[in-house]
Amino acid sequence: MPNFDVSVVGELNLDLIFHGLPPQLELDGEHLAEGLTVTLGSSSAIFAHNLALLGNKVGFSSAVGDDAFGEICLQRLGESGTDVSRVRRFPGKLSGVTAILPSGKKRYILTYPGTMFTMSYEDLDLDYIFGAKHFHVSSYFLQRALRPALPTLFRQTQEAGLSTSLDTNDDPEDLWAAADLDQVLKYVDVFLPNAHEACKIARTDNVHRAAKIMSEKVRLVVIKRGAHGALARRGSEVFSASAIPVDFVDAIGAGDSFDAGFLHRYIRGARIEDCLQFGNIAGALSATRAGGTAAFRDAEYRARFLKERLASPGATSFP
Ligand SMILES: Nc1ncnc2c1ncn2[C@@H]1O[C@H](COP(=O)(O)OP(=O)(O)OP(=O)(O)O)[C@@H](O)[C@H]1O
Ligand SMILES: [Mg+2]
Repeated sequence: MPNFDVSVVGELNLDLIFHGLPPQLELDGEHLAEGLTVTLGSSSAIFAHNLALLGNKVGFSSAVGDDAFGEICLQRLGESGTDVSRVRRFPGKLSGVTAILPSGKKRYILTYPGTMFTMSYEDLDLDYIFGAKHFHVSSYFLQRALRPALPTLFRQTQEAGLSTSLDTNDDPEDLWAAADLDQVLKYVDVFLPNAHEACKIARTDNVHRAAKIMSEKVRLVVIKRGAHGALARRGSEVFSASAIPVDFVDAIGAGDSFDAGFLHRYIRGARIEDCLQFGNIAGALSATRAGGTAAFRDAEYRARFLKERLASPGATSFP
């Protein structure tokens, strides 16, 4: 029996979210924020954290520096039940950190990558990674040292009998290198971009067309559409599910939470419709509190939210 439900390989950093900034930031001006949230950041870590709190055994492979930011990340992620024994600490290096400056409904995101650019294939414990049912990578474009080896790593995990998934997230260089991504997609069972990313990768501005193009390269493409919910395509079969209405706070980590909800059901053999629905519920839950993990960390609130949404008409009660 595998040790884990899901192995995650990716980046681990903190988010510093500055709330209540003036509408316009001026160069050389001193600006005051009304509030500050210091919370677990990075797509891979938010995904692992929330997946563990949905009831999965999660093994996390990553790297931090030997600084206080790295320690806080390890503590926060460990509190979710995620196994962090394979997070390497690189002496003399700084962990990554992200400053988020909300502006209206959008946000500026500034990331110092730190050790997220350092971890490579040679740093991974492959036996540990293969000891799971499923393998997931987030933030493809941020895994600078690991990226050249990702086709090999995905191929090896499939050969070891795991199902696989990938969420690219944004490309900070705006290049969307299709050729090297195609090499990875050959070994991906579930591809989970958002609408913007899917359109960029497929070189189109129509999300349905992007789904069709990507469905020719990957077994199952699942596209997150913010307040419009999500759609999926497997060959010529098309599926969609509406978002769950909520008191919206922010979308930080909503996509990673969606991935956690979707894959929670996918690895248990659920129908695509049910995976989409639970993905939307998990994404909506995340959107009700600041940052990507706050809503999941509140056990009582999380349980009540999931119970109520799963009890609504049309919802299924698959675990
Ligand atoms: N305003 C909203 N209302 C309800 N649900 C939402 C809302 N925004 C996002 N969601 C849920 O979260 C999912 C993911 O959102 P989104 O499309 O913003 O992903 P993303 O851009 O990948 O997010 P991330 O910033 O985490 O990478 C949506 O598919 C939906 O289920
Ligand atoms: Mg995303």
